Amino acid sequence: MIILAPSILSADFGRLREEIAAVADAGAGYIHIDVMDGMFVPSISFGMPVVKSIRPCTEKVFDVHMMVEEPGRYAQDMKAAGADLLCVHQEACRHLDRTVSLIHSLGMKAGVALNPATPVDVLDCILEQLDMVLVMSVNPGFGGQKFIPYTLEKVRRLRSRLQSLGLSTDIQVDGGVGLGNVRQVLEAGANIIVAGSAVFCGSPADNTRAFLKEFEEFER
Ligand code: DX5
Ligand code: ZN
Repeated sequence: MIILAPSILSADFGRLREEIAAVADAGAGYIHIDVMDGMFVPSISFGMPVVKSIRPCTEKVFDVHMMVEEPGRYAQDMKAAGADLLCVHQEACRHLDRTVSLIHSLGMKAGVALNPATPVDVLDCILEQLDMVLVMSVNPGFGGQKFIPYTLEKVRRLRSRLQSLGLSTDIQVDGGVGLGNVRQVLEAGANIIVAGSAVFCGSPADNTRAFLKEFEEFER
C-alpha cells in the first residue's frame, strides 16, 4: 500500500485546519509534520502546541518528522500532543536504540531518518526495531528544494536489504518529490511519499488526487 504524506510545512499556516481537511478528505493517508529546532537544521518551524491544536482536524496518522537535536527529550510531549509516528534523525541521536525504545514504550511507531550523505548501512543493527526508515532526498531544513538523485540508490539498497531480512518496513522519501519524479521514487522501493510544495500550491485537494492517481497507475 502506497501512502501520501503531505508536509504541512508548505501549507498556509493561517488556514491550517482547512488545508489539512482538504488533503485528508482527498485521500492523503498521513499528515507529515516537520518540527525544526534551529539547531539540527537552520530553521525553526513549530512544536507541540501546534500539533495539539491541529489534532482535532483529522484522524489521519500524524507522522512527526523531528529535525531536532536529541529528539527523545520531546517524545513524551509529542505523544501527548497527538503524534502517532515519531521519526528521529540518526544524526541527532547519541543513543539511537534508547530513543527508539522510548518511542515504542510510549505507544508510537518509530521511524529513523537519514540525511542524504548518511549511508543506509548505518541502520543495519537496528533495522528490525524500526517501523519506518525515512530517506531524505534533500538536506533537511526547508521545503521547496531540489531532489538529490543519488538518494534513489540508497532507497534501492535499503529495500533490497529489508527484503533479504524478510522485513516489510516502510520506506519514506522526503524532499523535492513531485508528480514528475514520484514514479522513480516508487520504482526504487519507497512506499510512503512526502510532498510539501507539490501538494500545497494551487489546489491541495486536486494535487493530492493527482498523486493518488500516480500511485494507482504504478500499482497496476
Ligand atoms: C524538509 C522537510 C520536508 C519538506 C518537503 O526539511 O523535511 O518534509 O517540507 O517539502 P518539499 O516537498 O517541498 O521538498
Ligand atoms: Zn519532513
